[in-house]
Amino acid sequence: MKTGTQSKNDKEKYIEIRLSVNVDHVASVREARKEKEPDPVHAAVLAKIGGADGITVHLRKDRRHIKERDVKMIKEVVDLPLTVEMGLFEDILDFVLEVKPEKVTLVPERQGEVTTEGGIDLKPENAQKEVEKFAKALQEKGIKVGAFIDADEKFTEIAKEIGLDFVEINTTQYAKNPHNFNIVRKIEEVAKYASEKGLEVMAGHALSVTNVSKIAQIIYIEELSIGFSIVARAVFIGFEQAVREMKDEITKARLLAISSMGNFKIS
Ligand code: PXP
Repeated sequence: MKTGTQSKNDKEKYIEIRLSVNVDHVASVREARKEKEPDPVHAAVLAKIGGADGITVHLRKDRRHIKERDVKMIKEVVDLPLTVEMGLFEDILDFVLEVKPEKVTLVPERQGEVTTEGGIDLKPENAQKEVEKFAKALQEKGIKVGAFIDADEKFTEIAKEIGLDFVEINTTQYAKNPHNFNIVRKIEEVAKYASEKGLEVMAGHALSVTNVSKIAQIIYIEELSIGFSIVARAVFIGFEQAVREMKDEITKARLLAISSMGNFKIS
């Protein structure tokens, strides 16, 4: 067990935290009137100018916000890693295999849900087989594949066994109870466990500029996926500025965690 003062390398390893900006709800506004504006491609360009490290889109079965055209154009126009979130649907798989984003996050998708309702349940054997089938097809094209999971070590173990590259830990429960220390501690434990297993660790869902700090301070988390709250802020302060504000908050939180690593227990 390593405790006490950490080496410079430990600090360098944990200093980076990326922000992938989800532009789905820019498309939701467009679809409210079936117009051409606002364009999520435009938002993705502004996200890059505002300091985003990646762009995320969720191509839903019902295509209620993001469409194939958006995914293709963002991939072509915006020079940032693209993550596509998708449910386990064969037709979407075929499309994503053509577009070849950098990453795919497999999510559970229930028809009619307002947003993703929880992590994918990897415990049943048939779910594992299905996820593995999708992951293999994507990985053969050089796409990194992960699963959106609730904060439970068992899911990270299964993710590793199946051969996934990363997990994204669901932060919804935390966002609903931001002062509940046990929830933050659980996310940290699962993030650490996943990281030690050699998985990349992401987190996201329902994070905002007012609650993101505690999650960004978890040094094992390498990337945050944030959408709705950035789009909501953008209505008042502009998209580029809303991204910059979030990126600054995340960077500040991580620097705070790193600066206190002298007393930090790493493993
Ligand atoms: N991660 C996953 C798996 C999601 O489904 C979503 C919503 O599309 C997000 C992160 C981003 O959540 P929010 O829009 O609440 O920031």
